[in-house]
Parts: sequence; structure tokens; C-alpha cells
Amino acid sequence: MKKTMITGVQPTGNFTLGNYIGAIKNFVSLQEQHDSFIFIADLHGLTTYQEPKKINKIILDLAAIYLACGVDPKHTKFFVQSSVNEHSVLGFLVAFQCRVGELSRMTQYKSKKAKAGNSVDLGLFIYPTLMAADILLYDAEVVPVGSDQKQHIEITRDLGERLNKRYGEIFKLPEYYIPENGHRIMDLQNPTEKMSKSAPLDDKGTIFVLDDVKTTRKKIMSAVTDSDNKVKYDEKNKPGISNLITILATLRDCSIKEVEKEFGDCNYGVFKEKVADEVEKFLLNFQAKYQKYRESEELITILHEGAKAAEARAQKKLDFIKEKMGIAI
Ligand code: TYM
Repeated sequence: MKKTMITGVQPTGNFTLGNYIGAIKNFVSLQEQHDSFIFIADLHGLTTYQEPKKINKIILDLAAIYLACGVDPKHTKFFVQSSVNEHSVLGFLVAFQCRVGELSRMTQYKSKKAKAGNSVDLGLFIYPTLMAADILLYDAEVVPVGSDQKQHIEITRDLGERLNKRYGEIFKLPEYYIPENGHRIMDLQNPTEKMSKSAPLDDKGTIFVLDDVKTTRKKIMSAVTDSDNKVKYDEKNKPGISNLITILATLRDCSIKEVEKEFGDCNYGVFKEKVADEVEKFLLNFQAKYQKYRESEELITILHEGAKAAEARAQKKLDFIKEKMGIAI
């Protein structure tokens, strides 16, 4: 029997090359071998206020982005999270079993709280319990994500295990699938920080997948590197060049060693041009598909069909969970 795989993305900000390399690319290459689910995590997006028109547009943009990245509705149940109500119900049931201390220790919560102070929304605090529900609801065993989500998968396992102990075997426990290369694509201007989709559109350190290729080339050519002028992977001492090596290796589906071998004797200017060429090739191909899906009337139908299929599975599972908890009357 195929293992179940799931992943999601929040409809906030603008989708970056990091989002693609860290999670979606791997999901796409594994989708046929798994019982696959992918969704747009709109409820997660709403853990902080979003302007309704804006989030609606981002959801549709993201739907077209997923399809252009290669998500195939023939093999994958592809939907918007809030279309399947069972995510919310299980989200509550899981949250009730979670300790305040556990959530307070979440790195993402701590860094957001540090910025927002005491006015941090409850949604941000309980965010990991909803994410745990997304995964446990389908008994997903494989979760392709970037390394920033590792802690969220770990708490999902803890919560699943806790519920299994309390109520008998309910859930399969997930494993994260974090790629060896590309699990944390860094900001081009500040290569010790993660490339983030909440960066403004004119940010020089972030490659957005909908950037025009001229802009992307400029961003890559002005990426911060070092004075060593050797194309060699060394995350600690040469974070900028290591990041560019990773981008090139992952887009080409080759190893870091192969990139080092090919470009070891190049100066940074020449190497950056090669990285820009590869990114441009990816983006041009991606953007042509994106336009086609974004303008297609099929987009909404695909999401509705995906939600129907996911819901059938989620309903069954929630009925089973309620029975185990003694609340199926
Ligand atoms: P989100 O929307 O922040 O990011 C989507 C995916 O992109 C990965 N990612 C990166 N990978 C490499 N380098 C980067 N710079 C980079 N930035 C982001 C993230 O690790 C993620 O895999 N909580 C999730 C959405 C979610 C989810 C789920 C994911 C909700 N429920 C259930 C998996 C399973 C999030 O906010 O991802």
C-alpha cells in the first residue's frame, strides 16, 4: 500500500524560489509513489489578519503556482484547507490536548512574539496544533517541508502519540522529508537569514517565482558573497556562495560536489551568470505554465474536485476519531 504524503503552504506574502526548492519540488517528484495530498493553508494564513480581497487573490495565485510547479491533480488531492471542515474540528480536538508550555517553546512563535510583543494573536500561538491536525487527519507518514518546519512535525508526532496513548491507536505518526540540499534557501543579501515570502516585492535578497527574469538576474548578480573568489561549499565561512551553489545544484538535480567540480576555477562573476541562467530557465518555463493555469476556468474546478476527494477521506477519519473519543453518538 502507498504511504500517504501531505504538504501545504500559507497564502501570505509571495511565493519564493525557497518555497519551491524546500518543499514543493520534492513533493512533485514523490507524488506518484504516494497517496498524495497538497493544500493551500488558508486557515493558517488567517492566524494573523489578512485583507479579504488580498488573501483571495493569493489563494488563486498559489493554486496556479502549485500546478505550474508540477502538482498533478491526477495523482494528488489538491485543495484549499478551509474547504475541508474536518481540519478545523480536529484542530480544536488536538489543541485541547496540547500544553501551553509546549507551544511557548516553538521557535517560530518565539521569534514572532519577540517582534509583536504582548499583542501576539492567539492564532499564532496555536498554529502548530492546526498543522498537526492537517497531517494526522490523513495519517500522513511523509511530510516534505523545509527545515524551518521541522519543529512543527516533531510536535505533530508528540501530539499524535499522546492521543494514541489516551484513546488507543488512532493516528499514524509522520516523518518529515527534509531535503539534504535546499532545505533552507538563504536571502541573497543576507545569507545567514532564510529567504522569506514575507519580504517586500522589491527586496533584493529574495527571488520570487513571479519576478521577471531581468530582475532575478540583477538580484543574483548582486548577491552577497565573500572575497575568497573560490566556488566552494562552506556554509559557515562562505554562506553566500554556498547558497548559490545549492540553488544551482537543486535546480539541475545534481550534487554540490558536481557544481564545485564544474565551477571550481570560475570567478564569482562567471559563476553568478551561470546561476542566473539556470534560474531564468526554470522561471521562464514555470511562468508560461503559471499564466495558462491562472487564466484557466479549470482552476476552481480542480480545487473543488480535490476538496471533495480529501473531504471523503477526512470525514471517515474524523468519525473514527470521535468514536475513539467517545463522542460519536
Ligand atoms: P510556509 O508557507 O511558510 O512555507 C511553505 C514551505 O516552504 C518551505 N520554505 C523553505 N524551504 C527552503 N528554504 C526557504 N527559504 C524556505 N522558506 C519556506 C517551508 O519549510 C514549507 O515547507 N506551516 C506551513 C504550512 C503548513 C503545512 C501544514 C506544511 C500548514 N499545515 C501541514 C506541511 C504540512 C508554512 O507556514 O509553510
